[in-house]
Amino acid sequence: MPVLCTYSRRRRLRRRSAAKTAIAIDGPVASGKSSVGSRVAGLLHWPFVDTGTMYRAITWLALERGTDLADAAALGKLAERATVRVLAPAAGSNEYATVFVNDIDATPYLRSPTVERSVSVVAAVSRVREEMVSLQRSLVTDQAVVMAGRDIGTVVLPDARLKLFLDASAEIRAERRQAELERAGKARPYEDVLAETRKRDQLDSGRADSPLMPAADAVIIDTGTRSEDEVVDQITSLARTVFGAEV
Ligand code: CDP
Repeated sequence: MPVLCTYSRRRRLRRRSAAKTAIAIDGPVASGKSSVGSRVAGLLHWPFVDTGTMYRAITWLALERGTDLADAAALGKLAERATVRVLAPAAGSNEYATVFVNDIDATPYLRSPTVERSVSVVAAVSRVREEMVSLQRSLVTDQAVVMAGRDIGTVVLPDARLKLFLDASAEIRAERRQAELERAGKARPYEDVLAETRKRDQLDSGRADSPLMPAADAVIIDTGTRSEDEVVDQITSLARTVFGAEV
């Protein structure tokens, strides 16, 4: 059972329903969830939980062990037995969370092309999702969070009081991902990145279990036509309206 998550937190909120004191941010590949989410979390002094890193961690472990990615039972067993420990980055920083899988620091490998290509296949396995969702829910039993992923508003935290769905065209998102890769010294051709973005969108939206979709009560934000600063401002002002004096 992958528990043992540690998230640093600067401020505790008193007398609140923890599951509701959450901002759920969903959206497809490179829609801005992580960059916007971590900045909003920093401004509110809430921890930021990037659930994608957890699916990436299990995917990395499966690749390391040579697990057949078509074997759902084996992947489920792997997720069940793994210990995933996630250490949040400093609030508002652009760093990724540090992720230990069975005590090995897997952080440097989680954005490799092989993990990138395989993660949506592993994330479609129901048993893997069950483990990850229970880990994610365990993080909000006593703390307010900003949590980003694909199914946070629909499945993980359906009673989050503020739900956002970030979106942009596949072309814009692929440009962003390509720029990110370039900055990391891992440049790849735009056409490849676009094809991969579309493939992952298809897998994430087409899977039977918890497909990517906006929650009925989510605010949909087009991040393709707005700057990151504008999106952060929009979300923090929504948070102040929804949570009032709590933030
Ligand atoms: O950063 P990017 O948007 O490329 O991906 P991510 O948020 O790190 O998520 C990686 C993959 O994990 C996604 O493409 C999904 O297949 C899966 N995922 C999921 O199924 N459910 C979540 N709550 C988060 C991620």
